[in-house]
Amino acid sequence: MFDQANNLRQKTRGESGKTNTRIIAIASGKGGVGKTHITVNLGLALQRLNQRVLVLDADLGMANIDVLLGLTGRYNLSHVLQGKCSLGETLLKGPEGLDILPGTSGIETLVNISSTEAKRLMDASAQLGAIYDLIFVDIGAGIHKSNINFISACDEVIVVLTPEPTAIMDAYSLIKILNNHHDNCRIGLLINQFNSYQEGIEVANRMKTVILEYLSITVEIIGLIPFDIHVRKAVKKQSALLELFPKSKAARAIMNLGRHIVNIKTSQNPKGLGGFTDRFLGLFK
Ligand SMILES: Nc1ncnc2c1ncn2[C@@H]1O[C@H](COP(=O)(O)OP(=O)(O)OP(=O)(O)O)[C@@H](O)[C@H]1O
Ligand SMILES: [Mg+2]
Repeated sequence: MFDQANNLRQKTRGESGKTNTRIIAIASGKGGVGKTHITVNLGLALQRLNQRVLVLDADLGMANIDVLLGLTGRYNLSHVLQGKCSLGETLLKGPEGLDILPGTSGIETLVNISSTEAKRLMDASAQLGAIYDLIFVDIGAGIHKSNINFISACDEVIVVLTPEPTAIMDAYSLIKILNNHHDNCRIGLLINQFNSYQEGIEVANRMKTVILEYLSITVEIIGLIPFDIHVRKAVKKQSALLELFPKSKAARAIMNLGRHIVNIKTSQNPKGLGGFTDRFLGLFK
């Protein structure tokens, strides 16, 4: 089924798997700021805006998108690498049919990947590139090397923070490290869980100014999502906020962010999945 759809899309695109897939990392310095919930709902928002979206769970420490949505699957990427199943068989169907590539224990094994496995990963990557316009990657919190490597393999990164001083400090540290490691990755700031828009805007502007002053880089304030009790309610019900409470403040803010992402003109072509795989494998060498 997956292969048929893939072939069909390749034909309709008239290209042999070449891709402009945009890969966007959702990252944070401090844990628990809202990355996973945002990744899933942003994915859903973009799907509603007619984008073909994949959500990839790359939180090595605590892969939990499946738990957040009450999904269970048999396979993950490690099974693809071992040749035990196809990539299509690992995908979970999330809300509104959103494609989710679950927990990435398989990616950890890339440290010792064999050439056969590397080939399988490249094939899988080419398949993905032929299908999706956008891939959102949920990254583990903090400045661990594997997180930095993942982010470096993406085209853009959205750094999520809350108004808490610790979240602000840790977001700054992450951006500082990214700036040292990463050649011109587009960085967007997303302030989540503030109590008033005034507070959210103040935090965003302060961060932007400090980053420009001390790191000499311009970051974009990409979104503002207020604290909203509906998020907690949706998480408890293991459902997506956009499905359960589409009119809530946070859901509307996420839809706005989705529209903004669609409208962003990327100054350079996305590196696409081929580039992603090459760099990804290279990072572990
Ligand atoms: N805008 C919001 N309003 C209210 N609660 C929120 C909001 N955003 C996230 N939360 C709550 O914050 C908690 C943490 O969210 P989530 O698991 O998405 O964070 P995370 O950054 O992925 O955490 P980790 O670093 O552990 O992976 C959840 O209970 C979620 O309901
Ligand atoms: Mg998470």
